[in-house]
Amino acid sequence: MRILIGITAGISAYKIPLLIRKFIKEGCEVRCIMTPDSTDFVSPLVISTLSKNPVGIEFWNKETGSWNNHVAYGEWADVFLIAPCTANTLNKLAQGACDNLLMATYLSMRHNTIISPAMDLEMYQHPTVKRNIEQVLADGVRVIPPDHGELASGLSGEGRLPEPETLYHEVMAHLAPQKDYLNIKVMVTAGPTYEAIDPVRFIGNHSSGKMGFAIAENFASRGAWVTLITGPTTLESSHERIHCVKVTSALEMFDAVKTHWDETEIGVFAAAVADYRPTQIAEEKIKKTSEDLSIELIKNPDILSWAGLNKSSKQRTIGFALETNDADQNARGKLARKNADAIVLNVLEENEKCFNSDTNKVRIFDVNGLALELPVASKTKIAQGIIDFITTIRV
Ligand code: C5P
Repeated sequence: MRILIGITAGISAYKIPLLIRKFIKEGCEVRCIMTPDSTDFVSPLVISTLSKNPVGIEFWNKETGSWNNHVAYGEWADVFLIAPCTANTLNKLAQGACDNLLMATYLSMRHNTIISPAMDLEMYQHPTVKRNIEQVLADGVRVIPPDHGELASGLSGEGRLPEPETLYHEVMAHLAPQKDYLNIKVMVTAGPTYEAIDPVRFIGNHSSGKMGFAIAENFASRGAWVTLITGPTTLESSHERIHCVKVTSALEMFDAVKTHWDETEIGVFAAAVADYRPTQIAEEKIKKTSEDLSIELIKNPDILSWAGLNKSSKQRTIGFALETNDADQNARGKLARKNADAIVLNVLEENEKCFNSDTNKVRIFDVNGLALELPVASKTKIAQGIIDFITTIRV
């Protein structure tokens, strides 16, 4: 494998020498391009010694008296990993700027580029950064999400460059993606449901849909065809193997599930479906006339239970549980009651904020009891672990 690493001016550039060593140890060829400012953060001497190749910094290489040919770099590499990718370089990638060797190489790359953004948490949350990430994703760049934890600024949050081992595995997975679900038909439910009270109000919950989307993305990257039935979220998926069905209420989600159920081999029910809906939806906006107001509710159909009852021997159902007391016992009860093949319990002890968080911790129960515990990790990683587990119970 020929790995081209682009290094930009972030503190976490100190991790890149270890990453280079890992690639070399595993038999890869490595070349590096550094932005001029990044040479203040890590020495080109270290980078060239470990990568066993001269480092490209400027277009004109003063040492060798030759031109650093960005097109040749692009032709040589199997993959271009830009790590750390600063907010500045991210912005240039989104705009197609071409003011240094790294940017010119990006524009000349024939193969895929992977970036690993790393910056302070406020910067990472900034709308311009979010917008630029959306843009590069739309341009076909793969983005490795930053880790959560201590940052160089002293703050703690999202923005850390993942450890060299993680970056190594992400690149390898990208180069030789596992296709263990090739053409398998999967259904995933995600997000909350909104149950209308009147034309402007609803009963809902805080589910962000991130876990369901991460599961859909991981299945699709492993070759599955995914029907993603999602309640209202801000998330979008552009994966060609994901067919997104957008719904609002539990009844609409139920209809969509029934429509697609026969063709489904594996159903993962990650949606936080409202248990009840108003018995009547007021036709006009309810006026603030009386001191108190009661809304009568009626139970929604349990979609996971329906799928559990209506599955053939070739279909599998996996549900989720979020419990505040007797979690394991309740998860096991749910498994039996809903005739599911597995229940993924969101563990709240160490990870109080499960909704809207980018991380999660889960315990998976199958018919034999506790099958697997996945420690706190990004929802992307947890999705991968859940699907690795599903591999052990699929037909
Ligand atoms: O019963 P409870 O809501 O705790 O069960 C959670 C699991 O059941 C989740 O997998 C959820 O997607 C699913 N569920 C459903 N339809 C409902 C309620 C929950 O599919 N009406």
